[in-house]
Amino acid sequence: MKKITIAIDGFSSTGKSTLAKQLAKHLEYVYVDTGAMYRAITFFAMQNGYISIDFFDKETLINSLPFIKLHFEYNAALGFAEMYLNDISIENEIRTLEVSSFVSLVAEVSEVRAKLVEQQQEMGKGKGIVMDGRDIGTVVFPDAELKIFMTASPETRAHRRYDELKAKGADVSFEDVFNNVADRDYIDTHRDDSPLRKADDAIEIDNSYLTREEQFNAVLEMVNEVVNS
Ligand code: DC
Repeated sequence: MKKITIAIDGFSSTGKSTLAKQLAKHLEYVYVDTGAMYRAITFFAMQNGYISIDFFDKETLINSLPFIKLHFEYNAALGFAEMYLNDISIENEIRTLEVSSFVSLVAEVSEVRAKLVEQQQEMGKGKGIVMDGRDIGTVVFPDAELKIFMTASPETRAHRRYDELKAKGADVSFEDVFNNVADRDYIDTHRDDSPLRKADDAIEIDNSYLTREEQFNAVLEMVNEVVNS
């Protein structure tokens, strides 16, 4: 069967990774969570003291980029690939609200984006890939055969993220999570380099009131249409 590239973009906590994982599993495609890569660089910057609440040493982070090695490694128990930074799994460390609060600033840096986009394009060379992020359909794979743009109301998204963090035992307030979602929406859509926007040929899905199954079935139909065309 013909293998294609599926690009999934959208605001934070719209369920992009849930959909991407379902599709990758069903189609036996590779799934790449590009947000994890931006989070990994952010975690590196935090670990080395290059970023904190009122401080960001962009230059030193840029100079350190050649020494940052990122790779994904499939974990059969989890059913998806974990993010590794310099050969150490940081899958749990990158999912905190603290990393979320800095990641949009790091993702604004053009040198960071150039490094990650190059690696993402390399991973997608052979097709048979589902990649999610903010610039996949516009910058990473502008020729992707299927582009999905996911939206949902900020309240719905903040509730999803809050429930996720709470389930992991995090001590967070709904207000903090909501503000983080709103701040990231703003920075992600207003940055100079590769701002989040819907590609002209992307199909928009507002999943505020869709179940996971309804959404998955709708997109699978789109995949079949493209593959059989
Ligand atoms: O998908 P996520 O919430 O884990 O992504 C974290 C941040 O990384 C998000 O706020 C913006 C940034 N990002 C990006 O700029 N480009 C991508 N392709 C993926 C994520």
